[in-house]
Amino acid sequence: MEKVAVNYEKMYYGFPVILVSFYDVNGLPNVTTISSSYTLKDMVVLGFSSKGYAIHQIKEVRDFVINVPNRSMMDAISYCGSNTGYDLGKFDNVSLTHVKSQSVNAPVIRECPISIECTLSDIIEREQFKGITNILAQIKGRLVAKDYLNDDGGLQSSEFDNVFYIGDGRQKGFRYMQ
Ligand SMILES: Cc1cc2nc3c(=O)[nH]c(=O)nc-3n(C[C@H](O)[C@H](O)[C@H](O)COP(=O)(O)O)c2cc1C
Repeated sequence: MEKVAVNYEKMYYGFPVILVSFYDVNGLPNVTTISSSYTLKDMVVLGFSSKGYAIHQIKEVRDFVINVPNRSMMDAISYCGSNTGYDLGKFDNVSLTHVKSQSVNAPVIRECPISIECTLSDIIEREQFKGITNILAQIKGRLVAKDYLNDDGGLQSSEFDNVFYIGDGRQKGFRYMQ
């Protein structure tokens, strides 16, 4: 395969889009769109631009929920990814329902088929990567839509309809599983 060297600002090679929901320091629900994440066992890592409202609040309140949207939620994904909680409560303007989690002090998004309840454990900010805040969190609970489960209670991968974000810093591209 012949390759060409590129010099992009960033290269996001296809990351699942997630909606991160939380109660802010005043107890008000809010939500943001991110794609920088990975998980291993009961640990999850998320990457944020340091200046965002969501990360500012999560550093204080510590509890949040990772919600995995599907293709039908592109409007909410775009809205929550292009507006800031510094200006508004995003739940007021999207067709998403927030319900209090049983495991952490944060809202679960009812319409998302998967929700992962988390508590912040570490904040990583480095001079070398100025403007980026990575957080480590412990998973306290996992919720999965019944439709996404097989007869044994395991994940039914054929039902998944995640949205994947591909970006080079110039434009955003999306790919879908179905
Ligand atoms: C598809 C998509 C993926 C995004 N991924 C990230 C991300 O991984 N980290 C991040 O900090 N912002 C990401 N953003 C941008 C934030 O969602 C955006 O800056 C948002 O306005 C921040 O809101 P807040 O200030 O309420 O936190 C993404 C946006 C979109 C649309």
